[in-house]
Amino acid sequence: MTYEGSIRLRAHAKLNLCLEVLGRREDGYHDLATVFQAIGLHDTLTVTIGPGEGIEVRCVGWPVPEGRENLCWRAAEVFLEAALDLAGKVSIEVHKTLPPGGGLGGGSSDAAAVLVGLNRLTGEPLTDEGLVIEAARLGSDVAFFASGAGAALATGRGEILTPLPSAQDLPLVVVWPGEPVSTAWAYGLFEENDFTDGCQAQCLAAKMERGEPVKGDEALGFNAFLTPVAAQRPDVRDAMADLERAGAMKASLAGSGACVWGVFDNDEHAQSAADALRAEGRWAFATGPAHQGVAISDGTDS
Ligand code: C5P
Repeated sequence: MTYEGSIRLRAHAKLNLCLEVLGRREDGYHDLATVFQAIGLHDTLTVTIGPGEGIEVRCVGWPVPEGRENLCWRAAEVFLEAALDLAGKVSIEVHKTLPPGGGLGGGSSDAAAVLVGLNRLTGEPLTDEGLVIEAARLGSDVAFFASGAGAALATGRGEILTPLPSAQDLPLVVVWPGEPVSTAWAYGLFEENDFTDGCQAQCLAAKMERGEPVKGDEALGFNAFLTPVAAQRPDVRDAMADLERAGAMKASLAGSGACVWGVFDNDEHAQSAADALRAEGRWAFATGPAHQGVAISDGTDS
């Protein structure tokens, strides 16, 4: 069938409010217990189906590959395979605001946005469940973004999801230290005693499920990557120290890094801290929890 049309989407970033690594698996991956939370920072995508055939990806903003190596390209390919009767050319334009290699899940969120956008443009041939299954084939974090949840407890390699209500009252500042972290490299730093049992992530998730505040929770900000990655990366340690100096109640790492994030007591304080860090030349933004990983845009985003 031939479809034509265009859709604009916000591909939100995520933070892992708690990230435990349980151990190595036989397939080379690691088992996790983590609480994903979508946040306000986002990339913006326009996904178009027009006459012709093939897949085209164009990116503006942070430099990322535009060919097959871009996860958006692979997401379009996976969708076309799954929705067998689709004819047309898929064009994807990504306005990249989220730094690649930042641990914010930008590439995964972009890929999920492509799946969600193409599904919407073609009359939803994939069910919500089908979308999450295709998303998980693309990468460990993509399933969360495609799930429609604002927050979730994730287990397995990150693809087994229990949706949660988004955290309330969580003023945040995210800082980019300046150089990316490769996720595979960061996993390679783990030693046996870095593994934990998943209890902290489970407890934090239970609290969110009950709608209780998490701002002062012990488990908030626990991240198994923090010690090994910070030990190797003075720029990450500096960014954390800057956040603490700016008044963060707590600071942690985004995913496997490189971004760091801080929790502030209120939105005004988070905003003034981000402004002060930007005035010093840092990439720093105040943000907070979002309600969905991928959202159809009303066209007012940049
Ligand atoms: O799934 P994704 O492509 O995002 O993972 C990138 C790399 O991170 C994998 O190739 C693997 O080395 C590592 N990884 C892991 N365990 C996970 C997720 C990722 O070891 N649960």
